[in-house]
Amino acid sequence: MNIKEIQDEILRLKKENDVCILAHSYQAHEITEIADFTGDSYALSKLAATVPNKTVIMCGVRFMAETVKMLSPEKKVILSAPTAGCPMAEQMDKELIEGIKPRYEGYTIVAYINTTAELKTVCDVCVTSSSAVKIVRAIDNDNILFIPDCNLGAYVASLVPEKNIKFLQGGCPVHAAVTRQQAETAKALHPDAEMLVHPECRPAVAELADYIGSTSGIMEYARKSDSKEFIIGTENSIAEHLQYECPDKKFYPLSKSLICENMKATTLPDVLACVKGEGGEEIVMDEQLIADARKCIDKMIELGG
Ligand code: 13P
Ligand code: SF4
Repeated sequence: MNIKEIQDEILRLKKENDVCILAHSYQAHEITEIADFTGDSYALSKLAATVPNKTVIMCGVRFMAETVKMLSPEKKVILSAPTAGCPMAEQMDKELIEGIKPRYEGYTIVAYINTTAELKTVCDVCVTSSSAVKIVRAIDNDNILFIPDCNLGAYVASLVPEKNIKFLQGGCPVHAAVTRQQAETAKALHPDAEMLVHPECRPAVAELADYIGSTSGIMEYARKSDSKEFIIGTENSIAEHLQYECPDKKFYPLSKSLICENMKATTLPDVLACVKGEGGEEIVMDEQLIADARKCIDKMIELGG
C-alpha cells in the first residue's frame, strides 16, 4: 500500500470503529493529515476531556496518552507507539519530590505536564509550555517550586519576576542540547530571519530569540508574521509543517539535531494497526492513580482557562 492508500484505510476504519486520532504537532506530516486534531500539549489535554468517540489514539508520547486516559477514564486510550516515552518525564520520580518537599515547605509544586502520572500525584498543579506563565501568575502563592524543566522554569521566572520561583535541574535533552553558538551561527547565516524558539531551550539561546513559545505558538507566530524567513528552534517537524503551510516563506532548523526520536517513533502503518485494534498499547491505569494524579491536571485546566 502507498501512503495515500494507508491514509484512506485509516480514515475509513476510524469512522467505522468510532476512533478519534489526536496528534501532537511533532508528528510527521502524513500523520497530522489523518488526525482529527493536531496541537500542542495544552490543546490536546483540553480536547481529551471532550472528544465523543469511545476510542482515542494518541500519536505522541506516553505522558500525553496518560493525560488523555486521566481526563477520559471511560475511554479506550491507545498510545500509537509503545516505546514512545519522553526522557524528561523519566528524570524525576515521586520519591525524589517527596524527599525534597520538607525543604520547600509552603511552596506550590508546579509540574510540567511532561512528567509521569505517579509524579503528578505529589504535585499541586500541572502546566504546559503554552500555559505555564498564565498559570504561575494565577497561583495564589508567591513561592513556587517548578519541576522538572529548569529552562522552561527560567523562562517563566523571567516573565513573573514578582514570584519566588525555584527549580530543579531537569530538562529536555533534545532542546537543551542547542547551544548559543548554534543560535549565533544560524542568525549570522540568515540575518533577515526571525528566530522562534521553544522555552525548553536554554536561556542563553532563548534570549537571542524574537519569539519564545510552544509548538503551536511558534506555528501561529510564523503564519501571522510579515517576515519571509524564520529560524525554528524546536523539533524539526515544526519547520517541515510550516514549510507545507507557508510555501512562500522559508524555514531553517536552528539545529539539525533537534529531533525527538520518541516523537518520531510513530509511523503511518502503526496508526493503521491501531485503528484495526491490533497495534499500539492500551493505557491501563489504576483508579486511585487516576484520581490522585488528575487533580493537578484539573487545576491546570481551571487556572489555564
Ligand atoms: P508543547 O507544550 O509545545 O506541545 O511541547 C511539548 C513538548 O514535549 C516539547 O518538547
Ligand atoms: Fe520530551 Fe523533549 Fe521529546 Fe518533547 S522533545 S517529548 S520534551 S524529549
